[in-house]
Amino acid sequence: MSDKPRLWIARKLSAATEARAARDYDVVLNPEDRLFSREELIAMSGEVDAILPCHSEVFSAEVTGQLSDRLKIIANHSVGVDHCDLAALKARGIVVTNTPDVLSDATAEIAFLLLLGAARRAPEGDRMLRAGNWNSWSPSFMVGQQVTGKRLGIVGMGRVGQVMARRARGFDMEVHYYNRKRLAPELEAGAVFHEDLDDLLAVSEFLSLHCPATPETTGLMNRERLAKLPEGAILVNTARGALVDEEALVEALQSGRLAAAGLDVFRTEPGGNPAFAALDNIFMLPHIGSATRDTRDAMGFRALDNLDAFFAGREPGDRVA
Ligand code: DGY
Repeated sequence: MSDKPRLWIARKLSAATEARAARDYDVVLNPEDRLFSREELIAMSGEVDAILPCHSEVFSAEVTGQLSDRLKIIANHSVGVDHCDLAALKARGIVVTNTPDVLSDATAEIAFLLLLGAARRAPEGDRMLRAGNWNSWSPSFMVGQQVTGKRLGIVGMGRVGQVMARRARGFDMEVHYYNRKRLAPELEAGAVFHEDLDDLLAVSEFLSLHCPATPETTGLMNRERLAKLPEGAILVNTARGALVDEEALVEALQSGRLAAAGLDVFRTEPGGNPAFAALDNIFMLPHIGSATRDTRDAMGFRALDNLDAFFAGREPGDRVA
């Protein structure tokens, strides 16, 4: 029997991550990348000392109450931890970590792709060409919105928000933000702080969401707040679907109150919202904000760094519970 800690890697991770894990742990892998059921997840907690899950494995209070005492640590392969009931896990004495920083660039890239694509109607043009429907050209053909020189509002000026602000400056956008705390001037780098979310919304020709999903932020962009955005604004969400009232967003896009939206995250994942599919002015991606080779390796390694620290008796750097 191995004297190494037993680790379940709940989803198929990068080859480099799995190889490194196999060196230091007695690893249980999931080569088919199957999504385990709630019952299987609970049963697995009795077989291992540690789990390395993604945001697809849900540790609700109910699940947490049934986890085995053998399980000591959940080292998430995600920055978001809304799939974990942190209070319940803490009460059970199970350590929880996440993977901040390493996915900020990749996620901001996708946010900017959505912003540009939604503004310039890129998915619509792509669909037109694929369907063989590009039959004419005129000065009024597929006119979108210019990004350069416009105002971008950022909700949540954490790591991803700050990278997004830097990308936006490269496009000469004027950056405004709302955050629980005002940033230090060197991090703010000229961005305009709004103490009140509604004030930010009122000036945001583009709005990009970068805050975590918590009970306080769930439904943050509800009907009333969407209505506070300027006429013809564009909403981008790469954070979590729970932040947006999707029915209200559909209405705002249908009526043209909002010009477009770019979404990488949805209330229901996988699957998304079928009502969005009927709209031309929405650019959707299937939750791929952090999906680059570099970033996946970095996320896997960061999760393993946290496990290594824990099993060496040190405090994991990214402990969240
Ligand atoms: C994260 O890390 O939270 C991303 O959404 C991928 O899970």
